[in-house]
Amino acid sequence: MIIGVPREIKEAEARVAMPPSGVETLVAEGHEVIVEAGAGLGSGFTDEEFAQVGAQITPSAEAVWRQGEMIVKVKEPLPQEWPYISPGQVIFTYFHFAASEELTLGVLKTGCVAITYETVTRDNGELPLLIPMSEVAGRMAVQEGAKYLEARMGGRGVLLGGVPGVLPGEVVILGGGVVGTNAAKMAAGLGASVTILDIDLERLRYLDDVMPKNVHTLKSNPRNIRDSIARADLLIGAVLIPGAKAPRLVTREMLKLMKPRSVVVDVSVDQGGCIETIRPTTHTDPIYVVDDVVHYGVANMPGAVPLTSTLALTNATMPYVSQIAARGYRQAAMDNREILTGINMVDGKVTWDGVAEAFGLPFTPIEEALGL
Ligand SMILES: NC(=O)c1ccc[n+]([C@@H]2O[C@H](COP(=O)([O-])OP(=O)(O)OC[C@H]3O[C@@H](n4cnc5c(N)ncnc54)[C@H](O)[C@@H]3O)[C@@H](O)[C@H]2O)c1
Repeated sequence: MIIGVPREIKEAEARVAMPPSGVETLVAEGHEVIVEAGAGLGSGFTDEEFAQVGAQITPSAEAVWRQGEMIVKVKEPLPQEWPYISPGQVIFTYFHFAASEELTLGVLKTGCVAITYETVTRDNGELPLLIPMSEVAGRMAVQEGAKYLEARMGGRGVLLGGVPGVLPGEVVILGGGVVGTNAAKMAAGLGASVTILDIDLERLRYLDDVMPKNVHTLKSNPRNIRDSIARADLLIGAVLIPGAKAPRLVTREMLKLMKPRSVVVDVSVDQGGCIETIRPTTHTDPIYVVDDVVHYGVANMPGAVPLTSTLALTNATMPYVSQIAARGYRQAAMDNREILTGINMVDGKVTWDGVAEAFGLPFTPIEEALGL
């Protein structure tokens, strides 16, 4: 199969959908890979590195799109890329269709096969292509929080690990899923005193078993949240209710309980946030202050560390790319349900009910669309 890897053109997106190691694997498997010139630069990969492992490099985005039987990307195609898409062409990327009617209708019209990273689902409900970005964001949340706790950055001037004779900082994490667990590991490693709140007791039992002694678990309820945030130097929002907006666990009223110049990093801001006063911010202007509490609300945290994020994402995506390339999307989807669950559109039909529902479009079950 011919696989195309365009340069990402969305603002501030420095990741690339395939590192040279991925190209090397696909070429060894007998495929052709066309990479747009400069596609890897933001993640530290030069055109020469791609060429050395067998990629064809072209300066033309259009050539990559037109020649690729499958296009592998990171972010959704932007309107200027839609004219390059052809019917039946496979596009494998984060689409997040439900967030944009314009994107949904624009891509639907092309008749392509849209396989989305975000809906690839394991039998146990896990989303294997969202996990790596949650791991990155969870770990980054503590790094960013520690930075904004420094006095010159506007914070309380607390060192999370403390020192001999001085108590460590208090980190409170709302939600003990992938983001929360990764944040807890980082905060614990720095020596902070960490509390994770979750509504899922089984999850808290598991965390209590595997986490070091400086991590405590607590049932999430309004009273425990109020008590915990009053002690927090750093509060991390990491809750998720799948398919829904994040629940508002910390109201504006409750924010007044927090210590002056404490820091809130609400990672769940991309789902609306679990702290009422959070709003989305950007890497160039990441923080603002409400009621003397520093708020960090960057919605695409992994974008700050593209080298790590590219490798983390592609570790997870490449096995699917190999399967689709080897067997074609239809056979690959029949052989692997996870690929089937990734298909949101085929032949101008919407095959993911959440997308159809969001915009009142007809829904065709994927099995029917593929004639399975
Ligand atoms: N800002 C970013 O750059 C970025 C990057 C990756 C992920 N995220 C977001 O981070 C959030 C968390 O993602 P995740 O992968 O950790 O999800 P996850 O499903 O692994 O974990 C969510 C946890 O929240 C818990 N929860 C639900 N309701 C709760 C409540 N009322 N109180 C306490 N806990 C509650 C669940 O039991 C679960 O353990 C999501 O909104 C995700 O989209 C943001």
